Amino acid sequence: MSKFIVNGGNSLEGLVKINGAKNAALPIIAATLLADTPSNLKDIPILRDVTNLCEIIRRMGADVKQSGHSVEIDPRSLNTYETDKELAKKLRASYYILGVMLAKNGEARTSLPGGCNIGNRPIDLHLKGFKALGADVSLNHGIVELKANKLIGDKIYLDYPSVGASINIMLAASMAEGKTIIENAAREPELVDLANFLTVMGAKIKGAGTDIIKIEGVDSLEGREHRIIPDRIEAGTFMIAAALTRGDVFVKNVLTEHIKSLIAKLHEMGLEIKEEISGVRVSGNGRLDSVDVKTLPYPGFPTDLQSQIMVLLTQTDGTSIIKETVWENRFMHVDELKRMGADITIDGHSALIRASNLSGAEVTVTDLRAGAALVLAALIGEGSSEIRKIHHVERGYEGIEEKLYGLGADIKRVE
Ligand code: UD1
Repeated sequence: MSKFIVNGGNSLEGLVKINGAKNAALPIIAATLLADTPSNLKDIPILRDVTNLCEIIRRMGADVKQSGHSVEIDPRSLNTYETDKELAKKLRASYYILGVMLAKNGEARTSLPGGCNIGNRPIDLHLKGFKALGADVSLNHGIVELKANKLIGDKIYLDYPSVGASINIMLAASMAEGKTIIENAAREPELVDLANFLTVMGAKIKGAGTDIIKIEGVDSLEGREHRIIPDRIEAGTFMIAAALTRGDVFVKNVLTEHIKSLIAKLHEMGLEIKEEISGVRVSGNGRLDSVDVKTLPYPGFPTDLQSQIMVLLTQTDGTSIIKETVWENRFMHVDELKRMGADITIDGHSALIRASNLSGAEVTVTDLRAGAALVLAALIGEGSSEIRKIHHVERGYEGIEEKLYGLGADIKRVE
């Protein structure tokens, strides 16, 4: 099993280029199956989740050609509405096949999705949406099966603005008969990127990016070319790395409007942030003020940057509080950070973070973003750290060690 060996203490300097967004790439790859003709996707990150999803649809019969950051998908040879059981369990986003195959085929079947172990990950809202559109839903022995003679648009209120449910309902409704309205929908940029792709394919979608999305179903969609938006979570992770190591880094290929909540927090802490058209520069070597952070659906502070900013908050002058409101079990990194000397107390959904000096240690990654936090902590930990189970990190960061090394970090990957 691979691990990272990191010697802490180096300040990061230079330029790092951010890849396309994983969480936009995944539903967009699934959406290509809705079309009658091939699509060509650009800036697809080379990540385990992406490769797994490509393999799932390849095994369903689609012709998938991955070449660097481009993926060409021809759905004309699809021959089943069912995903490979074992592969589907490996990533949460395999559930997007449900919305797509239901729309295209009137039938879909997959095993309950896997993904990060960050709490109970129900799909009740997805299923509520499919039922409202007229699908029969059955859930037996971990397999979800959907059937509908015809999907008919409806008004669907989501009890929580779930990203996955909003996307899945949008995918299914894009080819349903009549109008679907999703109320209390997620507003995440990745959903908007998918809506833009579906629109160029011929779908009729209004309101993506607001909490009310209106979809007028169409009979057919055409494959198109599309470039994925930059990954705001990868960008945020490198911005925090720059701040943490008291460095000076230009994070290139960022849409700064997507990370306003992080920029505001870094400003509040006293860091210098320069927003430019092609990216953002983060620098600062003075003292850092403590701040409180509450994770929320977009445009609030992203839960996917919670563990990373926690590491930064150990380096302020005072005490900070993080309240996690999106996932119920997202403090798994805390025990490992404590092994590195972090002074953090958990109380329910809140974490109290006090100033502490971190030191290198042997730590184990439990989930994707927890892994990013451990890598960040190791960058400033005194001495050497060994980070195990880095396959979790590789689900979301392409070449993180190469990028950090390029900025001056002492990090290497050991097989
Ligand atoms: C997506 C992101 C993930 C991110 C999360 C929140 C992808 C592939 N993953 O996950 O990185 O952390 O958004 O920004 O895009 N919920 C229900 N019922 C449902 C669905 C969700 O109760 O049917 C709850 C979840 O348990 C969780 C909350 O809603 O507490 C947020 O989940 P959701 O927005 O659906 O996250 P994902 O789309 O799975």
